[in-house]
Amino acid sequence: MSKLITILNGPNLNLLGKREPEIYGHDTLDDVEAACARVGKDFGLAVKLLQSNWEGQIVDWIHDARHEAAGIIINPAALTHTSVAVLDALNTFDGPVIEVHISQVHKREAFRHHSYVSMRADGVIAGFGIDGYALAMRRMGSLLA
Ligand code: DQA
Repeated sequence: MSKLITILNGPNLNLLGKREPEIYGHDTLDDVEAACARVGKDFGLAVKLLQSNWEGQIVDWIHDARHEAAGIIINPAALTHTSVAVLDALNTFDGPVIEVHISQVHKREAFRHHSYVSMRADGVIAGFGIDGYALAMRRMGSLLA
């Protein structure tokens, strides 16, 4: 049976493809899911991609992942820079966690340079556009082999 990777996306990422395309590109979250599912096939990994604009919903989905997922890929979006609750929830998860940012956050405003989630993440990918999610899937493949 395939191991499950939960791919979580935070606030405003439902607008991926429409929102500030000069920063985040034209691809959508459906494109992200398709790319991750493709890579997952090579490694025997299934994917479940979720997005919410609500911090508590992201926390609840991390709790669900404790029981059903082998790994978590998370783009916490703005919650990256603000949320101790998301960090605490990730600290309850035993498997690998990879943090993804579509943009190169370190080239942007200073408030984007700090990530609470990085204190838990086993790897961080930033600035590779949506390819970052597929790269994170490859890494999950190695970590969970
Ligand atoms: C983001 C970067 C964050 O700073 C921002 O708040 C986002 C998206 C990214 O994928 O580049 O919403 O996580």
